[in-house]
Amino acid sequence: MIEIAVTVNGTVHERMVEPRLLLSDFLRHELSLYGTHVGCEHGVCGACTVLLDGRPARACLTLAGQAGGHEVETVESLADGATLHPLQQAFHEQFGLQCGFCTPGILMTASFFLAQNPDPTEEEIRAELSGHLCRCTGYAPIVDSILAAAAALQGRT
Ligand code: FES
Ligand code: FES
Repeated sequence: MIEIAVTVNGTVHERMVEPRLLLSDFLRHELSLYGTHVGCEHGVCGACTVLLDGRPARACLTLAGQAGGHEVETVESLADGATLHPLQQAFHEQFGLQCGFCTPGILMTASFFLAQNPDPTEEEIRAELSGHLCRCTGYAPIVDSILAAAAALQGRT
């Protein structure tokens, strides 16, 4: 066992963990943050994406021990109480999800992406989404959702 202290959504969590424990399992089973979904468990689907020190990272390819001393943000960090983040609101309004399994990971990537590129083109959004698999939507409503969120975040709507 190793001792780690990970800051998750602004709160420091100190735990003794197995060295092989994945960050995705740490978030879900140690912290009960079930918003981080686990699909393929080998870095392909993107469902487990969180922000690690502000950048998207696959929680299924990251050991909890590697996150020690670092900051993790999960999908639970986006909403402000009952007020949805503009990305969440846009996904709700534009039907950007069906089953929702891929959604948390896409929201975390999109939050990083829009911070870097506040006024993206559809092509840029599609390129950014290339690291995420969605089996339901056909992606078009996800692209529409991110465009709508970009407009909302810039005060254009
Ligand atoms: S569960 Fe991590 S990329 Fe699929
Ligand atoms: S909404 Fe079902 S996988 Fe994307």
